[in-house]
Amino acid sequence: MAQAVKVIFSAMILVAFLSPGRAESRRGWLEYSAISCRGHSASLVDFGAVGDGKTMNTKAFERAMSELRQYASEGGGGAQLYVPAGKWLTGSFSLISHFTLFLHKDAVLLASQDMKEWPVMEALPSYGRGRDAAAGRYRSLIFGANLTDVVITGDNGTIDGQGADWWARFRGKKLKYTRPHLIEIMYSHHLQISNLTLLHSPFWNLHPVYSSNIIIQGLTIIAPVNSPNTDGIDPDSCTNTRIEDCYIISGDDCVAVKSGWDEYGIKFGWPTKQLIIRRLTCISPYSAAIALGSEMSGGIQDVRVEDVTAIKTESGIKIKTARGRGGYVKDVYVKRMTMHTMKWAFFMTGDYGSNADNNFDPKALPLIKGIHYRDIVAEDVTTAALLRGISGDPFTGICMANVTIRMSAGAKKHSWSCKNVEGMTSGVTPLPCHLLPHQQPEKLSACNFPEKSLPIDNLELKKCFNGMIHA
Ligand SMILES: *[C@@H]1O[C@H](CO)[C@@H](O)[C@H](O)[C@H]1NC(C)=O
Ligand SMILES: *[C@@H]1O[C@H](CO)[C@@H](O)[C@H](O)[C@H]1NC(C)=O
Ligand SMILES: *[C@@H]1O[C@H](CO)[C@@H](O)[C@H](O)[C@H]1NC(C)=O
Ligand SMILES: *[C@@H]1O[C@H](CO)[C@@H](O)[C@H](O)[C@H]1NC(C)=O
Repeated sequence: MAQAVKVIFSAMILVAFLSPGRAESRRGWLEYSAISCRGHSASLVDFGAVGDGKTMNTKAFERAMSELRQYASEGGGGAQLYVPAGKWLTGSFSLISHFTLFLHKDAVLLASQDMKEWPVMEALPSYGRGRDAAAGRYRSLIFGANLTDVVITGDNGTIDGQGADWWARFRGKKLKYTRPHLIEIMYSHHLQISNLTLLHSPFWNLHPVYSSNIIIQGLTIIAPVNSPNTDGIDPDSCTNTRIEDCYIISGDDCVAVKSGWDEYGIKFGWPTKQLIIRRLTCISPYSAAIALGSEMSGGIQDVRVEDVTAIKTESGIKIKTARGRGGYVKDVYVKRMTMHTMKWAFFMTGDYGSNADNNFDPKALPLIKGIHYRDIVAEDVTTAALLRGISGDPFTGICMANVTIRMSAGAKKHSWSCKNVEGMTSGVTPLPCHLLPHQQPEKLSACNFPEKSLPIDNLELKKCFNGMIHA
């Protein structure tokens, strides 16, 4: 039996290699790492696409997806769509399961400026309404729903959202619906988004939502630092996510961890948990390197952050919540973070406001508990920490160890500003506020990471040749 399967498999690979229109025969070898390799590969040009920056290619992408769907069946390994060098103008298109989109290093997907190319969808159930406008939202440039086993990768190829018109419409209050993301994948499992450059997103860059088992690796994300809501990566109601080796300059949080908004998020009740963020470099002068919230009503738990560098960024790790949010942020661990030129090194607020609508329950208080930091160095900092819990709902279990903050020349007189918070510190300079009393050095280990690693930590990628299953 095993032998027969093997023969069929080899035959399939052979067929795949010999099939006409194979991009690689024109382009040489592709070699990359992925959660899955594919049994079949085709090029975007096989579906009539033209990479001149002018021809609309939405139909070519749609044709590709409907043709390649046949390879998704069990055992076949699915299909790869290769995007060669060129400028490929396109509107929003939808992905399929068991599928890899691979961008050549000189391939640029250019988002169409024509509003007709952007279908409108309902608001997310955990948000109840769109962020820009209540009515609904434009579908993201690359969209996926109810999928399994999807890879979007490349040799650092580019996806350019050409967001300037969208930002102008937002600022001019001319939007009927909420702006589109560059990439959104919902209700899906086993995802990889890696080795790409994302430019000028109309709204958030990458939004995995209601999904699990996600690897995000090697992304360069760039948007003007004053562009509105151009978050880098927003894991939202997702389980088991690993974000690593990313470089982000943006107009909003580099990574924003979310799980739904007020009464809608509480009702939907889908947390973000088991999240790893490591080796992130962030520049975001008006926002945070990593934000938890403000939409956190489904809960955020078990977050591990390590080796993050923030430069000219407003705050490092920022917890933002409000009365009416409900939910929780707990078991957050941060180590080896380096910060240069910051307004606040540490920031937490329970007074963020921005409720979804007036129907929120003011008695729905968020639980913020078990936030651990260690081995942190920051320099040129205006205020070391602004920590504000909610009156009658303090943020507890805050632990900080081995933290050195060098204040800027024009720093505020009070480096720490604390209210309604509880916790401990050890080896922290400048001396923390009295709500976080200083302990002896042997207490340093209280802020350590848990011993047990998260499941996604151990997921290893396969080596694919030409995107194919390696015989
Ligand atoms: C992305 O590129 C880096 C550096 O070129 C490489 O080491 C890594 O394996 C690539 N990742 C994937 C998932 O292909
Ligand atoms: C995906 O599945 C969800 C939940 O089962 C369903 O509500 C939704 O309509 C599906 N979406 C699409 C685009 O297929
Ligand atoms: C990818 O391209 C971006 C934009 O050109 C560049 O800044 C970045 O260094 C490149 N990354 C890699 C790994 O080559
Ligand atoms: C304190 O943090 C610094 C910077 O990460 C690190 O080099 C040092 O080893 C840490 N010290 C202890 C005692 O853990």
